[in-house]
Amino acid sequence: MRIYECADYRAMSRQAANVISAQVIMKPDCVLGLATGSSPVGTYEQLVEWYGKKDLSFARVKSVNLDEYWGLSGTHPQSYRYFMQEHLFDHVDILPENTYVPNGLAEDAGAECARYDRLIESLGGVDLQLLGMGRNGHIGFNEPGDCFELGTHIIELAPSTIDANKRFFASEDEVPRQALTMGIRHIMQAKKILLVVSGEDKADALAKALTGPVTPKLPASILRLHPDVVLVADKAALSRLDNREGVMTV
Ligand code: GLP
Repeated sequence: MRIYECADYRAMSRQAANVISAQVIMKPDCVLGLATGSSPVGTYEQLVEWYGKKDLSFARVKSVNLDEYWGLSGTHPQSYRYFMQEHLFDHVDILPENTYVPNGLAEDAGAECARYDRLIESLGGVDLQLLGMGRNGHIGFNEPGDCFELGTHIIELAPSTIDANKRFFASEDEVPRQALTMGIRHIMQAKKILLVVSGEDKADALAKALTGPVTPKLPASILRLHPDVVLVADKAALSRLDNREGVMTV
């Protein structure tokens, strides 16, 4: 794993956007696995800026998002489809028909999960998977559990996740209790993974993910088994990592 320590959120976002931009420039028809949450917002802002300067084009890119709240339509302002339109898709030249997010309003969750897995396979898998990490170490919405769930699945959100995400909703009651999420298989099968982590409240989980046991109780820990992971984090997020060997300061 390559670890970049950045001074702050802005520097982290710029570094992460560099990795994505390099991917898109090297392989213009790549498949990007995309993430939501506050961690990648600055990364998307930077990409939109560079797109505006004509540094890169998304015209041939396809994207698959990690997850979606179960029960929210893509027009709901807190849905992940809406987030992606607002922060990236509406501002760059990616073709709408090449952007995929699980359907939170599908009739049958199981069928939607199977469809999403087939879709990822039909695209040939993910070239670069962008990930944030929850305070409890979740990736996508793969919450801590007794085993790693491999395929796209429906998940009960952990109380700590509902608590963390309630800031985006009018009240805690409005936070959906379930979500659809890509499973560990397609995340780990991505050719390259870019993990962005920011803030002191992630420091404990990040240190454990990097140095503790690989366990489904801390889903991000499995990333250590992937051959090509770039972690881009700010100082605060890396503040509990004792072993600084290999950490590059940018
Ligand atoms: C959300 C998303 C994840 C995200 C995580 C952290 O619930 N499902 O994909 O990485 O929680 O979010 P944030 O970056 O806002 O801390």
